[in-house]
Amino acid sequence: MKNYLSPSILAADFWDLGEQVRAVERGGASYLHVDVMDGVFVPSISFGMPILEALKRKTTLLLDVHLMIMEPERYVETLATLGADLITFHLEATKKPLELIQKIRSLGKKVGIAIKPATPTSALEPFLQLVDMVLIMTVEPGFGGQSLMPECLEKVREFRKRTQEMGIEIDVEVDGGVKEGNLEKVLEAGANVIVAGSAVFGSNPEERTRIFVDKMQMEE
Ligand code: DX5
Ligand code: ZN
Repeated sequence: MKNYLSPSILAADFWDLGEQVRAVERGGASYLHVDVMDGVFVPSISFGMPILEALKRKTTLLLDVHLMIMEPERYVETLATLGADLITFHLEATKKPLELIQKIRSLGKKVGIAIKPATPTSALEPFLQLVDMVLIMTVEPGFGGQSLMPECLEKVREFRKRTQEMGIEIDVEVDGGVKEGNLEKVLEAGANVIVAGSAVFGSNPEERTRIFVDKMQMEE
């Protein structure tokens, strides 16, 4: 499967957001990870519609929107109109996952389902034929800069093995605590869409992106 890097702008310098996005574009990123938080599903509040709209106007990167919000069904239509290309909601945040998948599809967008560390990957199984991607969180969602939980990487490994046995090819995104130092392990576990926030935007995003992308292409 092809590997994609999705730098998370949660860790970007917002004073200079446009230039930070240009830097990861120059570095060769293919996606841009946009973390929307509501202060309810997760403790923190990040950003939402106006930022997404601004990004869409100026970048051609695929906008990979990670919704950490309750009742995501209330917002997907607006987010799709504003330019989200891939909309990922948390299975724990909605009572109607099937309807939500259909709604996102009917808006012509790609769909992802995310799970928190405590949710088993078996909970994803009813939806695997219906979504483009699953997002297996490797930290508790809500904040950047945390350390990757090794037990979550084991979930990725088991999930990839199981879907391969089932003959299902699906993108597996990993989000939280990915650094250059553990990237190889993350890829080897079976993830192919890699979110990196602080590891990319912490210093020199262009160079950090290039380093990640080079390593990821070697692993493909
Ligand atoms: C956390 C967010 C992540 C975050 C990752 O809840 O979903 O996307 O930005 O940040 P790092 O890569 O710094 O762990
Ligand atoms: Zn995220």
